[in-house]
Amino acid sequence: MNVIQMQNITKEYKIGQIRLKALNKVNLEIKKGEFVSIMGPSGSGKSTLLNVIGCLDKSSEGSYALDGNNVDSMTDNQLSEIRNQFLGFVFQNFNLLNEMNAIRNVEIPLIYRGITGKKRREMSEQALIKVGLKDRMKHLPTQLSGGQQQRVAIARAIVGNPSVLLADEPTGALDSTTGSHIMELFSELNESLNITIVQVTHEESIAEYGKRIIRLIDGEINRIDFNHKSEAKND
Ligand SMILES: Nc1ncnc2c1ncn2[C@@H]1O[C@H](COP(=O)(O)OP(=O)(O)O)[C@@H](O)[C@H]1O
Ligand SMILES: [Mg+2]
Repeated sequence: MNVIQMQNITKEYKIGQIRLKALNKVNLEIKKGEFVSIMGPSGSGKSTLLNVIGCLDKSSEGSYALDGNNVDSMTDNQLSEIRNQFLGFVFQNFNLLNEMNAIRNVEIPLIYRGITGKKRREMSEQALIKVGLKDRMKHLPTQLSGGQQQRVAIARAIVGNPSVLLADEPTGALDSTTGSHIMELFSELNESLNITIVQVTHEESIAEYGKRIIRLIDGEINRIDFNHKSEAKND
């Protein structure tokens, strides 16, 4: 089954008299367990597409189903519910709460889900172990390096077993070595846990960690490349 199924998705912005199509009739299917990179020049619609996939923004036209749930006519409350249940988000600037330690940050999506006490703490600890932060659980974000902060954010994104992990420029604020370590972690989570990953990047070397590269130009899918190099590595 396709975890992401988009048909003719168009997103139009109106500013005064001007209409701008940030996405124009995008058709996209992503299967469970895929690792997909979205590339394209600045302004080509990458973030808009990720925001529609992430139910943070609604399309103007077209239809979109996430893990079999059609989201086109959902209310904002229903969309929040869908996001919490099916999606994990990773951002360029980590978006951690600075006054909370790593465990507390990772627990946040579970609080919204109503998971309490010991269970919630155990799930957070397991997620932090998966991202290699077993010995940094009590650290505050300010006591962690950029790469470690991004690992906390990744733990927060996967703690509730989402259907899809979405990342907008996850290595954009990191040096290239740290960035490649984050990509190795993505590959590992994708392979060992079969987590579906959709990431946006403008860097070819980062995009190549994905098994499929979707290239946008002017809000349209211009080309899709299958990355045989990473497929060969998985065999
Ligand atoms: N909230 C908005 N209001 C108006 N125009 C927007 C808005 N968000 C994005 N755009 C426009 O839509 C196009 C695609 O933007 P975006 O998806 O952010 O591109 P990318 O992430 O590829 O740089 C750009 O031309 C941008 O200016
Ligand atoms: Mg962007």
